[in-house]
Amino acid sequence: MGKAIIEVQDVHKVFDQGAAQVEALGGVTLDIHEGEFTVLIGPSGCGKSTLLYLMAGFEQPTAGRILLDGREIAGPGPDRGFVFQDYALFPWKTVLGNVMFGLIHNGWSKSEAQRVAQEYINLVHLGGFENAYPHTLSGGMKQRVGIARALAYNPKVLLMDEPFGALDAQTRKHMQRELVDIWDKTHKTVVFVTHSVIEAVFLADRIVVMTARPGTVKGIVDVDMARPRDYTGEAFLAVRRRVLNLLEEEVEKEIRLQEQAGEV
Ligand SMILES: Nc1ncnc2c1ncn2[C@@H]1O[C@H](COP(=O)(O)OP(=O)(O)OP(=O)(O)O)[C@@H](O)[C@H]1O
Ligand SMILES: [Mg+2]
Repeated sequence: MGKAIIEVQDVHKVFDQGAAQVEALGGVTLDIHEGEFTVLIGPSGCGKSTLLYLMAGFEQPTAGRILLDGREIAGPGPDRGFVFQDYALFPWKTVLGNVMFGLIHNGWSKSEAQRVAQEYINLVHLGGFENAYPHTLSGGMKQRVGIARALAYNPKVLLMDEPFGALDAQTRKHMQRELVDIWDKTHKTVVFVTHSVIEAVFLADRIVVMTARPGTVKGIVDVDMARPRDYTGEAFLAVRRRVLNLLEEEVEKEIRLQEQAGEV
């Protein structure tokens, strides 16, 4: 087990929504270990994206703090890469332009940025598509660009918010396998949000199950299985069952909350 690279210490996050306030996170304490693949899973609206945004420094906690390498996170930085569910690519830039953008922005020379961008484009198997524009790419290809862009400046931590959520089932499985390959090569610290228990068990070293809103840590399931994992194996099913049991109670709570609020 690696040392704690990110320490989330009793973090609360309250949002103003007009006159009302929403408590998204209700006291999260969690260590993210260096070199590990951590997956966050929990009912819709339990604050998974919020927690990831706080780690990215896009938002600040209402109470509590988050440390990266022992220092409090004050804002976004090149030590953290972010992969968005909706890709968030620049439509007017090519694949190469999208991957180079962050490097140029961080003061790299054009030739160096191009060399490194090409390396990561190759890593995600997009060699030959350097000059393609995002609208000509499939969803899986777009997300490969998103991953290459986030990895190119060699962040310590890769934060991924449901990166495969918009993909069809086949492409999604393919991307999961590719991500395991990339992770094998880079051994980055990854924090990955998903709704899919199967995806979580396929990818994670540790699965953090969150409670319904306000989100806290309900339980942590360690996944001690060699990769690539067999979706249909006994060990896989056993871990799936453990995660599902933890989740089910929380999903029921969330449905009750929505019923009370008249949302369903
Ligand atoms: N910028 C914001 N302003 C106001 N409320 C917000 C903001 N961001 C999130 N919230 C609220 O905080 C709660 C948690 O949202 P969040 O997006 O973190 O949940 P989530 O677990 O990622 O959900 P999902 O699984 O549906 O993506 C929700 O009730 C949401 O409406
Ligand atoms: Mg979310």
